[in-house]
Amino acid sequence: MTNAQREQGISKTLQDLPEPEIGRTLGQLDMLKGVRVGDDGTVHVAIELPTPAYPGRERITMAVEQKLQSAHLLNGSRLDVAFSATVRGKNAGGTLGLRIANIIAVGSGKGGVGKSTIAACLAYGLQHFGARTGLMDADVYGPSIPHLLGVAQAKPAAFEQRTPTGEALTRIEPVNAGGIKTISMGFFINPDQAVVWRGPLLHRAITQFLKDTDWGELDYLVIDLPPGTGDVALTLSQSVGLAGAVVVCTPQQVALLDAVKAISMYRQVKIPILGMVENMSGEIFGRGGTRHKAQELGVPFLGEIPIEADIRIKGDEGKTAALFNEGSPARPHLLAMCQQTSLEIARQLLESPSMPTLEIL
Ligand SMILES: Nc1ncnc2c1ncn2[C@@H]1O[C@H](COP(=O)(O)OP(=O)(O)OP(=O)(O)O)[C@@H](O)[C@H]1O
Ligand SMILES: [Mg+2]
Repeated sequence: MTNAQREQGISKTLQDLPEPEIGRTLGQLDMLKGVRVGDDGTVHVAIELPTPAYPGRERITMAVEQKLQSAHLLNGSRLDVAFSATVRGKNAGGTLGLRIANIIAVGSGKGGVGKSTIAACLAYGLQHFGARTGLMDADVYGPSIPHLLGVAQAKPAAFEQRTPTGEALTRIEPVNAGGIKTISMGFFINPDQAVVWRGPLLHRAITQFLKDTDWGELDYLVIDLPPGTGDVALTLSQSVGLAGAVVVCTPQQVALLDAVKAISMYRQVKIPILGMVENMSGEIFGRGGTRHKAQELGVPFLGEIPIEADIRIKGDEGKTAALFNEGSPARPHLLAMCQQTSLEIARQLLESPSMPTLEIL
């Protein structure tokens, strides 16, 4: 058998190998990027992961080895599996001129359950794995992202850009908070100023944040939604094709009921549900209620974040990023939540690669 024939045989066999996290074959996920048999007989397999936050590299390597062994395609040769990651997404902000693969909304039915904290942690966690990430604060009434990220005093710069047709556009430079590009109404108002928005103005503010901010190319843009009504969710669903919504709730029954309402509201405005996160899980409020509810509602469960004084303290100090430092007790829980969220995005993308968006601007 020539090397070329052997490479072809290996390729064909591996296309049918089930990938352990998403549960599809490497072929279905288009993850197999190359097979080469080296001069010394080593079998080199190149695999492209759908997200850098992919948790199962070793498991893929083991599955590849087993599959090739049992198909008698390795014959004692050395196996070298190399990984790369390319985030795929709906790129659904194209009509707004955005180059963002995936837009994730973080919401809840109830206030104070930790939406903003979870949104900030999703952004930092996805960045931790190597993704290019942004965070948009869509809570124009009570913006808390600047404070959580320690950039409350920042003032984003505005600059002018010419379109190819010579038209002048005002763009906003997002604030860089430890590598996260972020924008918030908090940068434009006094902290003690109350903001009253009517529906159309709110719609305009949100779409302007999306399209006037110079986000550049991003793998993930996380959007922190305000609590309660669906105005902002509706605006988003009409202007971009969201990857989906992460619904945050606490273990208390009342928060769970609110989460159910939130999920039904997102479904009404056709925002896909990525899953539910249980925040403040632990002794006081109990735990596990969200996992149970998610199962009942048929939506994915994305993880449990314990109630932890450190999370509140770091948030108060504007050091949310420090929750990802080695030794931080919240770190493993937060990283697992980010991994599950990015896997769910990849899984759902496979089911509906593109969603039509309604252009109403
Ligand atoms: N897992 C946790 N453990 C301890 N404290 C937490 C946890 N998650 C959030 N908090 C704290 O709870 C408070 C509320 O969190 P956060 O502001 O993120 O909630 P929210 O849902 O965005 O609120 P709002 O509805 O007002 O926007 C903050 O002080 C935050 O630090
Ligand atoms: Mg908030």
